[in-house]
Amino acid sequence: MKTGRTYLQLLGLATLATLLLGVFRPAHAAAQEKSATSQTSQYVGVDTCKTCHEELYKNNFENTAHFKTTLHDGHGCESCHGPGSAHVEGGGDVTKIISFTTMSKQDANARCLSCHAAKHEQRHFSGSAHASNDVGCLDCHSPHHAKQPEQLLVSAQPKLCYGCHATAKADFAKPYHHRVDEGLMQCSDCHNVHGTTTIRQVRTMASGDAICAKCHADKQGPFVYEHVPVKTEGCSSCHTPHGSTNPRYLRVSQVNLLCLQCHTFPVQGPAGPSHNQSTKYQACTMCHAAIHGSNASNVFFR
Ligand code: HEC
Ligand code: HEC
Ligand code: HEC
Ligand code: HEC
Ligand code: HEC
Ligand code: HEC
Ligand code: HEC
Ligand code: HEC
Ligand code: HEC
Ligand code: HEC
Repeated sequence: MKTGRTYLQLLGLATLATLLLGVFRPAHAAAQEKSATSQTSQYVGVDTCKTCHEELYKNNFENTAHFKTTLHDGHGCESCHGPGSAHVEGGGDVTKIISFTTMSKQDANARCLSCHAAKHEQRHFSGSAHASNDVGCLDCHSPHHAKQPEQLLVSAQPKLCYGCHATAKADFAKPYHHRVDEGLMQCSDCHNVHGTTTIRQVRTMASGDAICAKCHADKQGPFVYEHVPVKTEGCSSCHTPHGSTNPRYLRVSQVNLLCLQCHTFPVQGPAGPSHNQSTKYQACTMCHAAIHGSNASNVFFR
């Protein structure tokens, strides 16, 4: 395509184009074309579309990430809307072009995934909690009318998510919370909303460790003396990840009551301590300060 080639040579991006082709399958390998266009239409190229859709081209396409679909011999507009000759010959016949406004969510997802499924971030989408509950790409993204140009989002996080997740909104408004509303971190730091192999679409580190360790490495260990639940049940067994009415985002209002869920006195449960539960022992982490694990003390004193 002429525009694409010129652009390429101009910026000397030939290697980038090769890279892109490796990552994104060409559009004709894409999902099934809609019947309206499949039999008769040919690709006419982005310059033709531009003649009638110049405003959209200039304001809602050229300046987006999808301009890259015109590079090399990509089909630009037609890589999503399908071959357009019949639409053009019909003077803009809207029944002869693939329209996302009338398409089912599943069909729209399939078109997007024809290029994006190979990408690490989106490859688990079909089995995700979002896809299974009929939340599609276009509930969160808009190629032409994104409110947040970065990542083409229909609105920025966390507003985007709160529209459907009222409980999360309430949790982040609690007195002790990760500062998502304040813009210090984002839902997507911990979740991959395109789906994961874990429950709750929670990200994991490449090492397999919980995502929490990315920012709280000191709590993860390994330690000479591990506090077993940190490893077996994970951070969420004692903390709420979003927010809590308790300091340190603890699930239980008093530390001793948290411990007593597993440790019973005097000597029962996984490891009943030798001491009793008199008042002086109630602030457990006063003495057992290295509660996530220790390299020095088998009872986590330091
Ligand atoms: C001869 C002028 C003309 C050309 C060339 C043209 N279009 Fe259109 N197109 C129109 C008109 C007119 C409409 C209907 C009004 C509107 O939505 O802007 C339209 C509507 C559309 C729609 C909206 C369909 C819907 O209802 O959701 C899409 C998508 C579209 N065109 C894509 C393309 C693509 C892709 C190309 C290049 C292959 C192209 N058009 C070339 C005139 C044209
Ligand atoms: C990445 C896929 C993709 C590409 C590439 C693409 N479109 Fe679209 N188009 C969409 C989607 C999805 C919609 C539905 C509105 C939205 O979500 O932004 C849409 C909507 C439209 C509409 C309906 C009117 C509107 O503003 O929503 C027209 C017209 C249109 N596209 C024309 C084009 C033209 C012309 C090009 C190339 C300059 C193009 N599209 C490139 C996906 C694409
Ligand atoms: C023809 C292949 C193709 C199709 C079909 C396609 N995309 Fe893309 N998409 C791309 C390319 C190429 C990029 C740019 C990637 C890059 O910069 O690394 C991109 C980038 C994106 C981005 C990231 C934008 C950014 O700023 O980082 C989003 C979000 C996206 N696409 C969503 C969609 C959605 C939603 C659809 C379906 C309506 C879709 N894409 C269909 C090829 C495609
Ligand atoms: C529930 C909302 C939601 C849905 C549904 C969704 N996305 Fe996203 N997407 C996001 C958010 C938020 C980001 C930015 C944070 C991130 O990268 O995780 C993003 C980022 C992206 C990116 C840029 C990051 C990257 O991987 O390069 C692409 C491309 C993308 N989405 C494509 C898609 C496609 C294709 C679909 C449908 C198969 C889809 N998204 C469905 C919310 C969503
Ligand atoms: C259009 C509505 C909608 C939007 C927008 C949306 N979600 Fe969802 N989300 C759902 C639905 C419906 C489910 C499945 C039912 C449920 O668990 O609530 C879901 C499930 C989830 C789950 C898995 C919950 C579980 O129990 O497995 C997570 C995590 C999630 N969404 C996070 C996000 C994040 C983060 C965003 C913003 C980037 C977001 N969602 C945007 C509707 C949405
Ligand atoms: C610090 C990491 C982190 C951040 C930030 C985060 N989440 Fe979560 N989220 C989690 C973890 C971990 C779980 C699983 C908790 C469990 O299984 O007990 C979860 C669970 C969920 C669930 C399932 C229902 C529930 O409440 O347990 C939804 C929905 C959800 N998150 C949405 C969101 C939204 C929306 C945002 C941003 C506003 C967000 N999350 C930000 C870590 C996080
Ligand atoms: C992207 C980085 C990041 C990730 C991922 C993360 N956190 Fe945090 N966390 C922080 C920051 C920064 C603070 C500092 C407190 C604040 O935001 O006010 C914090 C605070 C906390 C606190 C309270 C500390 C205090 O002194 O009150 C706890 C508990 C906590 N995080 C647990 C977790 C758990 C559990 C996970 C995994 C579900 C997790 N964090 C994931 C960045 C992160
Ligand atoms: C057995 C329960 C338990 C588990 C499991 C647990 N924590 Fe904690 N955590 C606590 C308690 C209790 C405190 C409060 C200590 C105190 O009283 O000062 C705490 C405090 C914290 C703090 C803030 C205070 C500090 O020392 O910096 C962070 C951050 C934290 N935990 C992160 C994590 C992460 C990340 C994980 C998972 C790797 C995790 N926790 C697993 C019980 C637990
Ligand atoms: C989710 C369950 C759980 C919670 C909550 C919990 N623990 Fe543990 N704890 C264990 C298990 C399991 C072991 C390992 C017992 C063993 O190896 O016999 C352990 C071991 C210990 C040990 C070392 C004992 C030994 O004999 O090795 C101490 C000390 C300890 N916990 C203190 C605490 C304190 C203090 C709290 C509260 C801040 C707490 N634990 C909360 C499950 C828990
Ligand atoms: C005043 C300091 C102090 C406080 C407070 C404290 N402990 Fe201990 N804890 C000890 C000492 C001392 C030991 C014995 C250490 C040893 O054997 O070397 C111990 C041992 C333990 C053990 C290991 C089993 C055993 O008997 O050796 C567990 C489990 C334990 N404590 C749990 C708790 C819990 C739960 C709380 C809060 C309800 C708590 N501790 C409060 C000092 C304290």
